[in-house]
Amino acid sequence: MAPTVLITGSSQGIGKATALLFAQKGYDLILTARQADQLQTVAQELQNLGHSAPLIVTCDVKDPSQVKTLVEKALEYYGYIDVLVNNAGIYASGPIEQFSLSDWHQVIDTNLWGYIHTIDALLPHFLQRRSGTIVNVSSIGGKVPTAYLVPYCTSKFGVTGLTESLQAELKPKNIHVCGIYPNLIRSSFMDKAVFRGKDEEDLKNRREQLDNVLKAPVVEKPEDVANAIWDAVKNQKLEVMVGSANISQAFYRLFPGLIKWVSRQTLKNQDK
Ligand SMILES: NC(=O)c1ccc[n+]([C@@H]2O[C@H](COP(=O)([O-])OP(=O)(O)OC[C@H]3O[C@@H](n4cnc5c(N)ncnc54)[C@H](OP(=O)(O)O)[C@@H]3O)[C@@H](O)[C@H]2O)c1
Repeated sequence: MAPTVLITGSSQGIGKATALLFAQKGYDLILTARQADQLQTVAQELQNLGHSAPLIVTCDVKDPSQVKTLVEKALEYYGYIDVLVNNAGIYASGPIEQFSLSDWHQVIDTNLWGYIHTIDALLPHFLQRRSGTIVNVSSIGGKVPTAYLVPYCTSKFGVTGLTESLQAELKPKNIHVCGIYPNLIRSSFMDKAVFRGKDEEDLKNRREQLDNVLKAPVVEKPEDVANAIWDAVKNQKLEVMVGSANISQAFYRLFPGLIKWVSRQTLKNQDK
């Protein structure tokens, strides 16, 4: 029997790269995101590569009832789930006072509550089997506080706390929990990201700035994160910092004030 993995946000970017890698490693897949057409494209790509058809379930992770149905459908189809990869997320950038409460909710409800919803729905199955792996894709923004990314960092620090406290509790129950910490990754995340600015020019500059950084050859790829996720699952790691995130974390530990200052200077744009 092949092992199974449920990957949220697997229609593009890091989730899609993770799906392709886990299929290569012999896993059966449950793919989920909100848009069915993009999931179908990934499914077709997997089959063109000679892998078996994944189970596709559309689901908004913000909605606990949709997540419950997702897990029920996956268990009905495969009978068991071995690995959960919590990955669906959105990015948000701008001066703190420009974010509405609705922006805050969009970010926290997706990036943090979305992860809690899947864990809540799947944990009884893992506990009953006394086995299972939960991978939470956090971010370097869940370890290093960054100016102008306050809702995003809040959500990702939440994911870090969720991951580490689950580790503390679930280790004796044979449920492995790991956190993945990528730096900036060249995916298409900007398409769905929340950008806020003081005015149209600030907004445009913020987008352009990030777009330019993403073109730099040193920026890592979704496949680098997929490899980190595989490493965490295969080698039962508690956390994997992806490539350059190691450097960011090391600098923050050594010079916390300086790193906060650098983030302010780099991302402030027109803010005074
Ligand atoms: N890219 C980076 O620089 C970077 C760096 C560090 C950490 N990360 C983290 O890595 C994860 C994946 O990022 P990515 O760059 O691959 O992003 P992406 O290319 O924008 O992909 C996001 C995926 O999540 C899904 N999604 C978004 N909101 C959802 C919702 N409410 N319910 C269900 N699915 C939803 C999207 O599909 P639908 O829109 O169809 O739902 C898509 O499949 C995120 O948690 C992100 O914070 C990314």
